[in-house]
Amino acid sequence: ATPLDRVAELVAVHRDRPGALLPLLHDIQDALGYVPAVAVEPIAEALNLSRAEVHGVLTYYHHFRTEPAAGVVVQVCRAEACRACGSEALFEHAQRVLARPGTPSCHLESVYCLGLCASSPAMVVADKLHARMTAEKFDRVIAAQGA
Ligand code: FES
Repeated sequence: ATPLDRVAELVAVHRDRPGALLPLLHDIQDALGYVPAVAVEPIAEALNLSRAEVHGVLTYYHHFRTEPAAGVVVQVCRAEACRACGSEALFEHAQRVLARPGTPSCHLESVYCLGLCASSPAMVVADKLHARMTAEKFDRVIAAQGA
């Protein structure tokens, strides 16, 4: 199936629900890793919105990508429970580490709650959840991505 087939399937699931746009965009990104630009038109048509409206929502939310991410996706949870356990320092650490030459190519993102609040701070690296993250553990996980 092409990305557009997948989009069409998800549009069919969501189209008759109120407030379908955001959940639909989330599902598309979960399925494909991004929301392709060619999806805007079928989405707009199905939901009775203008293309500008769909595009506006897509670009307003930092979470959505319109192209596949380059490299390994690294998501740091920056919601409350994780913040209380040092996720901001961890995010800054991740920024520094990932900017170093020779580090595996990664795409750093913020996310807001991964459902691991009891084991904060939480992070996702290459689709794998990591709880109780520390700077040292992060360095090991990233080094392993290049292996
Ligand atoms: Fe980070 Fe819930 S707040 S996992």
